[in-house]
Amino acid sequence: MRRLCGIVATALLGACAPAPFATLGRVDAEAGALAPLGWFLVALSCLLIVGMTVLIVWGVRRRRGSLDRHLPVDAGGGQRWILYGGVVMPVVVLTGLFLLTLVALGTIRGSLGRPDLTIAVTGHQWWWQVDYAGDGLQDRFQTANEIHVPVGATVRIELSSADVIHSFWVPRLFGKLDAIPGHTNRFDIRADRPGTYRGECAEYCGVQHAHMRFAVVAESQEAFDAWTAQQREPAQPPAGPVLTSGRNAFEQYACALCHRVRGTAARGSIGPDLTHIGSRLTLGAGRVPNTRARLQAWIIDAQALKPGIAMPAFDELDGPTLDALAAYLESLE
Ligand code: CUA
Repeated sequence: MRRLCGIVATALLGACAPAPFATLGRVDAEAGALAPLGWFLVALSCLLIVGMTVLIVWGVRRRRGSLDRHLPVDAGGGQRWILYGGVVMPVVVLTGLFLLTLVALGTIRGSLGRPDLTIAVTGHQWWWQVDYAGDGLQDRFQTANEIHVPVGATVRIELSSADVIHSFWVPRLFGKLDAIPGHTNRFDIRADRPGTYRGECAEYCGVQHAHMRFAVVAESQEAFDAWTAQQREPAQPPAGPVLTSGRNAFEQYACALCHRVRGTAARGSIGPDLTHIGSRLTLGAGRVPNTRARLQAWIIDAQALKPGIAMPAFDELDGPTLDALAAYLESLE
């Protein structure tokens, strides 16, 4: 009962607070087309629950007659309840909802016009690769699990997958769209208000499906320009002996086989590009906040935090090396 109260309270509070995955609250651009449908579904569900509750209470409290007053089962009493409640009503309700869904989907435009910015997003088990194209080769950069966009800009997402089918879902910006290997889905998003819009993978894709989160950070054009200028730069050379030994460790251990840090010898491409990992909000696609302690925990035993991922445990590292590695990665802003 206490648990139930907790769930109800959370749901009620969620309706007031700007919940990160709110699909019914304030939504931007194309996601707005889905909100009325969501509200209609909620209202209809409430109506049906109230109706069923009334019927159940009525059935329970109804005066029961004696055995001889009841008709035998094969007399067919009450079969109309089964016909209307079990066949007619579901057909009417589900057909109606299907048609409404088709109408809502029809109003969503894949394209909002000429995009101001194009970003390639690739799903991996279990993280998101984000590639900013830019005009020239030197303008390109790659990041992970974090998409920065200017407020009000039309951003074209070119969505694909490197392994299995994932689904890109930022409830406050757009409906779910599948990331399919060997195929590119294109659609436009537009964030009308500054802020961090949370996203999830919405298609079961393996054991860590639940830990495949990302964020769309909508900021002013100036902040966005500053961010892209910083991301384009290669990693800063390490300042001081500790950071230098951290970088050396990164290049010498297996880190460099899977991860790239532009400007160093680390050129792996299996895992996320870590050139500016220090500037990111989270580690492991939203698994833990990006702090020095979490970085150390991640290096030592990522499998404990996110079992099944490709990152092995580096528990043979000694303390000073681990400290230096984490300090170096943290410094990569
Ligand atoms: Cu990727 Cu679920």
